[in-house]
Amino acid sequence: MHLGLIGYGNIARTLMGVLARENAAITQVSVLSLPEFAAATRAALAQDYTGKAMVYADSPALIDARPDLVVECAGHAAVQAHATACLRAGIETVIVSIGALADATLLAAVEQAAAAGGARIVLPAGAIGGVDILSALRPSGIDSVTYSGRKPPMAWSGTPAEDLVDLAALTEETVFFSGNARDAATQYPKNANVAATLALAGLGFEGTQVRLIADPAVTRNIHEYTVQAGAASYTIRIEGNPSPDNPKTSVTTVYSVAREVLNRTRKVAI
Ligand SMILES: NC(=O)c1ccc[n+]([C@@H]2O[C@H](COP(=O)([O-])OP(=O)(O)OC[C@H]3O[C@@H](n4cnc5c(N)ncnc54)[C@H](O)[C@@H]3O)[C@@H](O)[C@H]2O)c1
Repeated sequence: MHLGLIGYGNIARTLMGVLARENAAITQVSVLSLPEFAAATRAALAQDYTGKAMVYADSPALIDARPDLVVECAGHAAVQAHATACLRAGIETVIVSIGALADATLLAAVEQAAAAGGARIVLPAGAIGGVDILSALRPSGIDSVTYSGRKPPMAWSGTPAEDLVDLAALTEETVFFSGNARDAATQYPKNANVAATLALAGLGFEGTQVRLIADPAVTRNIHEYTVQAGAASYTIRIEGNPSPDNPKTSVTTVYSVAREVLNRTRKVAI
């Protein structure tokens, strides 16, 4: 496979390590980098991958290289700037910064681009799991999806939670947001990916209930959600380890993206 990557930060670099360990059949890698980081990206890529590799500074150049699959792992602005162009060019695109799709205009734009290019948008499970059954149950009728995101208090610093509670002084768990996935994604965009993934797989942004919790008793990012549906009900709880190079990203996200690549390079997709 010729793999295209948008962004070469924590997820992309860890991904390359996982793919190497798994002996994935990657014949070529093309990376779209911010121009100011192109030289550093070239150096990092040379460390991580010894095969044919190129770094580009704009999406037309990445598209001209004709990767078989593009993985966006660069953030919400990159979805806006580059994912639509890749899709319109007919390249299957994995969007990791799924929270960007809480913007209804952007969601419509990527869907239109995919339709125009005849390409698929792939939304990986990312930090959570159980998205397969949630999406599968949709035709059975889903009654409710209720998600709780629980993190150590300081993991919420730099978000509006800071203005609602004294994070550093918390001695017990505190729910600082309760509402739907649309409001959660809009007010907490840096933490929007999981809520947006559940919304898109299940009941939509308005129908998915979200609680965000600062909890001094935990050290990991804990995602828990309950689904009530016509064919089944379930609760899933995931205690994700933070990535060593970016504590905001659960390392499970990388493995979920690796699965998307491996499922396209092996004879059995699971
Ligand atoms: N779906 C999920 O559950 C989930 C979980 C965690 C993170 N994410 C998303 O993945 C993204 C990447 O995470 P990370 O840990 O690798 O972050 P990171 O900051 O380590 O890496 C991002 C990289 O993208 C590059 N970049 C930024 N804007 C770019 C652009 N317009 N074009 C090209 N490159 C660009 C940066 O220079 C950086 O190297 C996050 O922003 C987040 O939105 C999704």
